Amino acid sequence: MGFTMGLNLLLLLAMVATNILSLYHLSSNIQSKPPAPPPVPDHLIHQLSTIRATINHLTSLQPSTPPSKKIPSAAAAIAAPSDLLIYTHIAPIGSSCKDNPILLHQYMNYTPFSLCPNDAPIAEDLILRGCHPLPRRRCFSRTPFSPPASLPADPFSPLPEKTALLNHYNCKTFSCFAGLKPEMGFDMRVEKSRYLNYRTDLDLPISQLLQLAKSAKSVIRLGLDIGGGTGTFAAQMKLQNVTVVTTTMNLGAPYNEAVAIRGLVPLHAPLQQRLPVFDGAVDLVRCGHAVNRWIPVTSMEFLFFDVDRVLRGGGYLLLDHFFSKKMDLDKVYTPLIGRLGYKKVKWAVANKADASGVKNGEVYLTALLQKPLIRSTSK
Ligand SMILES: *[C@@H]1O[C@H](CO)[C@@H](O)[C@H](O)[C@H]1NC(C)=O
Repeated sequence: MGFTMGLNLLLLLAMVATNILSLYHLSSNIQSKPPAPPPVPDHLIHQLSTIRATINHLTSLQPSTPPSKKIPSAAAAIAAPSDLLIYTHIAPIGSSCKDNPILLHQYMNYTPFSLCPNDAPIAEDLILRGCHPLPRRRCFSRTPFSPPASLPADPFSPLPEKTALLNHYNCKTFSCFAGLKPEMGFDMRVEKSRYLNYRTDLDLPISQLLQLAKSAKSVIRLGLDIGGGTGTFAAQMKLQNVTVVTTTMNLGAPYNEAVAIRGLVPLHAPLQQRLPVFDGAVDLVRCGHAVNRWIPVTSMEFLFFDVDRVLRGGGYLLLDHFFSKKMDLDKVYTPLIGRLGYKKVKWAVANKADASGVKNGEVYLTALLQKPLIRSTSK
């Protein structure tokens, strides 16, 4: 539906552009009496060919043959892979920046070779709208005046002030953020015991996680924490000599700066981005609160398969307090997770007891899943 509309719009655009071009020719023919008409400006030709290329591309992408019909082999060769079609709807490949022209113009409207505007929120907005990677800029980014004084001996010591630019937040200090909601992860007294204790069956303390891996003769050296906030999971794992990198966005708070100042690795990457890690490179992927029922199911499928890609055989996927409606967990997510063919090392479901959880009939799932060592290669 949206696809066809977009295509129609493009065709219309192309028609208009072609007409403008012919008008241009026409008018220039009328005006200029004897000699050759003035050349068509390069940029116009360029724009027209871009539009043509896009149309050709989209037309070849459009699903043409209904599945009931037998596809002739030549046509089948031209038809776009169905997963490319699906994926371009979720995250239009390479075009999401153009879809947000106002923001993009704002972002790129700066004086080259001087200090960048104070516009970190615009970059964040663009990335969250799928414009990623952002265009590079030739300006100097703003950085805080006071560099960290020493190595963070303890990733749970209070975040040193003045090490991040906080002027576009309501809170102007890390301690202010620490005084907001403890779930945000800025209060190190709270963070210090996170992921260590077993209170309910939804908890998988790190000691238990490592013990489970050890008893399966599986070593955890390197992990990826998706949507890991201020990096506390990585911090706890660091104390166990395990390296974990954290993908985190600056949604309303300086999460990336916090991870960095703790001496951990922040990857400023949105959930819809292909994980910036090579195939089979990590032993563990953790999905925390950020991965939940608000992500469209198809996007979630691509996310889980990308997680599968970066996990080594025998590696672990930890779904930590994944929440969804109870019915969806049974009907949608359990089959989706099942499709990965992982071994269920732990699978715990319990009601989400907070106000919105009760209102929406939501449950939490905490699952530790182990990727098979060998996959059969048949279809
Ligand atoms: C981590 O490594 C250090 C240095 O090799 C060692 O002293 C310490 O015992 C290790 N910690 C754990 C939990 O293995």
